Amino acid sequence: MVTREAVLEALRGVRDPEGQQDIVALGLVQDLSVTEDAQVAFTLTFTTQSPKSRATMHSMAARLVGALPGVANVQVRMGSGGAARPAPQGAAGHAPAPAARPADLIPEVRHTIAVSSGKGGVGKSTVAVNLAVALQQGGATVGIIDSDVYGPDVPMMLGSRGRPGMFDNKILPVEAHGIKMMSIGLLVNDREPLVWRGPMIHSFIQQMLRDVMWGALDYLVFDMPPGTGDAQLSLSQVIPLSGVVMVTTPQEVALLDVRKAIGMFQKLNVPMLGIVENMSYFMAPDTGTRYDIFGEGGGRRIAEEYGVPLLAQIPLDPETRAGGDEGSPITIRRAGSPQAKAFRELAEAVRGRLGELAALGPLPTIS
Ligand SMILES: Nc1ncnc2c1ncn2[C@@H]1O[C@H](COP(=O)(O)OP(=O)(O)OP(=O)(O)O)[C@@H](O)[C@H]1O
Ligand SMILES: [Mg+2]
Repeated sequence: MVTREAVLEALRGVRDPEGQQDIVALGLVQDLSVTEDAQVAFTLTFTTQSPKSRATMHSMAARLVGALPGVANVQVRMGSGGAARPAPQGAAGHAPAPAARPADLIPEVRHTIAVSSGKGGVGKSTVAVNLAVALQQGGATVGIIDSDVYGPDVPMMLGSRGRPGMFDNKILPVEAHGIKMMSIGLLVNDREPLVWRGPMIHSFIQQMLRDVMWGALDYLVFDMPPGTGDAQLSLSQVIPLSGVVMVTTPQEVALLDVRKAIGMFQKLNVPMLGIVENMSYFMAPDTGTRYDIFGEGGGRRIAEEYGVPLLAQIPLDPETRAGGDEGSPITIRRAGSPQAKAFRELAEAVRGRLGELAALGPLPTIS
């Protein structure tokens, strides 16, 4: 039985990095509810704290309460100035009790990063692939798993025509541009009707983690299907994700879907690394004039609303698209371009953010 007192006691362990008082003493914790089936929800009503401190306190509060014995699920809402913001709507149902999380499925992988979005077609795969390349160009060993059952595009985007091999009863990932890759597209028949694909995702993800010989990796990037479906749930149940990168375009309609998706990852207690605004603007190559084709500032608004960093703004660029279609990611094909630079900045921001979250220290394991 989880009590309010136990939750508050755990929350006393979270301090405002700027003022050093704990968040309960500061009165930041509001609307605390604990249901009979151990669903815990509360709002952190921030006042003057910087976005960075908010993000730190938010993820720490979620983790400490999530680690309390018996807690099935934690929802940490962010409010400001005393006015609690309503919880993001739309995440499917409530999260199941924390599954056994065998981190030892992939003990040699240091960080697992999901690239997700609320909507399809916003550039998730493009971001996942170029983020993987940019991390690798920074000297890291990187793998990528294409778990988008509905549109597995990563093999095409990395220009790989290889098939996975077998060794010692394990699957050997395909290599492309120095990155180890597996795709659900390599395992399902192209003509398989879409409705049958959803249920495959759980076993696919398990297989990718259990049966693939990844070796030592600094980063394993997951290209996720869009939305808030089974894949996200399966993945965050099977492994402890280091965090999620949320891709959006700048316009409002896309943002609605992003809120739903962020709400879902919050429910699953997956740390939000930050937002990537893709197709942010177009820079005319001849005049250098900047055009905000899909509106302006959406990524920053979402980032501020949730107190997470805006990791990067990626320009709309014909060569980035062509690079995807032709299997030579822009980060390789034109490594010196401003577009490639934007992806390297993204990689840098992701590295920094993972370091920040790791500095929160190891957490008690969920019993
Ligand atoms: N910054 C960009 N500039 C130009 N074209 C882009 C950019 N980002 C993505 N695209 C193009 O937009 C299309 C959709 O991108 P992508 O496939 O990466 O999106 P997605 O979110 O993975 O889509 P899906 O939901 O279908 O998997 C692709 O043709 C891609 O090349
Ligand atoms: Mg895709």
